[in-house]
Amino acid sequence: MGLRHITIAGGKPLYGQIKIQGSKNAVLPVLTSCILGEGICQIDNCPRISDVEVTLRLLEAVGCRVVRRENTVAVDASQVTCCGIPEEASSIRSSILFLGALVGRCRAARLPFPGGCAIGARPVDLHIASLKKLGVRFEEDGKLAADGRELCGAKVTLPFPSVGATENIILASVLAPGRTLIRNAAREPEIDELCGFLNLRGAKTTRREDGSICIEGVRKLRAVSYSMRPDRIVAGTYLLAAAAAGGRVRLQGASMPGLESLSAVLRKMGVHIKLEHGSCELVSNGRIQAVPYVETAPYPGFPTDLQSPLLAALAGAGGESLIREKIFENRFRVVPELRKMGAEIVTERDCVKVRGNGHMHGAEVTATDLRSGAALVVAGLAAPGITRVSGLAYIERGYEDICRDLRQLGADISLSGGDRKENENSRKAR
Ligand code: EPZ
Repeated sequence: MGLRHITIAGGKPLYGQIKIQGSKNAVLPVLTSCILGEGICQIDNCPRISDVEVTLRLLEAVGCRVVRRENTVAVDASQVTCCGIPEEASSIRSSILFLGALVGRCRAARLPFPGGCAIGARPVDLHIASLKKLGVRFEEDGKLAADGRELCGAKVTLPFPSVGATENIILASVLAPGRTLIRNAAREPEIDELCGFLNLRGAKTTRREDGSICIEGVRKLRAVSYSMRPDRIVAGTYLLAAAAAGGRVRLQGASMPGLESLSAVLRKMGVHIKLEHGSCELVSNGRIQAVPYVETAPYPGFPTDLQSPLLAALAGAGGESLIREKIFENRFRVVPELRKMGAEIVTERDCVKVRGNGHMHGAEVTATDLRSGAALVVAGLAAPGITRVSGLAYIERGYEDICRDLRQLGADISLSGGDRKENENSRKAR
């Protein structure tokens, strides 16, 4: 059968329109937050991605009943019977959010340290320090064991606007006695979507003018139905693909907040982009210009999750671009694979210099993490010739069906080789 891989016949412009899947980085905290209240919450537009599958299994492990039909998930957390989650939690980063949710619901939590893509050390010191401010006590016997019997609202100032730490403080304080104030909270739209979902359930969270988040503890939450907003990183990936390959695409649902910084960079690349209400249109002649300097930053800065797809697009641009990665310390793992496709890239500490040389070509390449896998697809669509991308388990962590979406935009792209068993094995091996 051979290893599963994506095959792309590149060098062709993209035309068409698609609907963008629900947001991975919003649905993971929303699903985890279902632990906080009884009753059945229905989540629509839930993307069918492997990180969601793992999260649903972890919810069942603590006693939730989960029913999934296509893109709708129903979670009944009436009987949360256990405050610990199994070792499988260490396969995804967002399992760390079970810490705040279980402390919030059960006043105790026991979980393995989280995993996630190897883009950096991924410590959880900010999560632990923040929950300690809320009165949570920890014993670290190789696992994260939390005692939240003295949980109480407090003022927490984050030294860095960590997305996950902000989410964990919110999850732990929604049902805690008293008021919690998070200073220097992360501003990513996914945080506000989580707060919107919780407020729909009866929580009292507010984002203040200065960006801080205030949470007034409440006694209980009601069950609701909710539909996830589109995934801005998936949308951004496809916009960069169309910019690099050329063509005219319309993405339904891609006008959400969070694409402003990407739009500014795309315009510098000479691409025409229009963000309308509910959709986004991009027109590109495929001959994009280099961008002198881009650096990743917490929202509203340029998102680190689009750094590798941007690098892939700029590898075929005319001129030299410099990208600085200021969020994760090991997020240039796509560079050796792009070099196999003819890219001229030099890495210097936290920067990459890429000189578009017009000599990009198809090659056999391997994904080493979620967004580097997506970046290789972007490069394969723009480069003339055949590109084969393996390491699909990484891509399937965050993209529901990248081949389906891009085929709808006219790409010559297909999935071949392997079988479900291989799929499972590659997922477990990750
Ligand atoms: C979330 O990860 C996202 N994951 C990431 O998306 C995203 O890249 C990241 O936020 C930044 O936007 C999910 O939402 C599931 P952080 P998270 O805490 O919460 C350091 C993708 O591709 N840090 O904001 O882990 C950390 O090492 C993924 O979809 C500490 O030092 O990000 C990193 O350098 C990848 N100590 C920086 O902060 C801590 O306790 C940003 O991390 C926590 C974080």
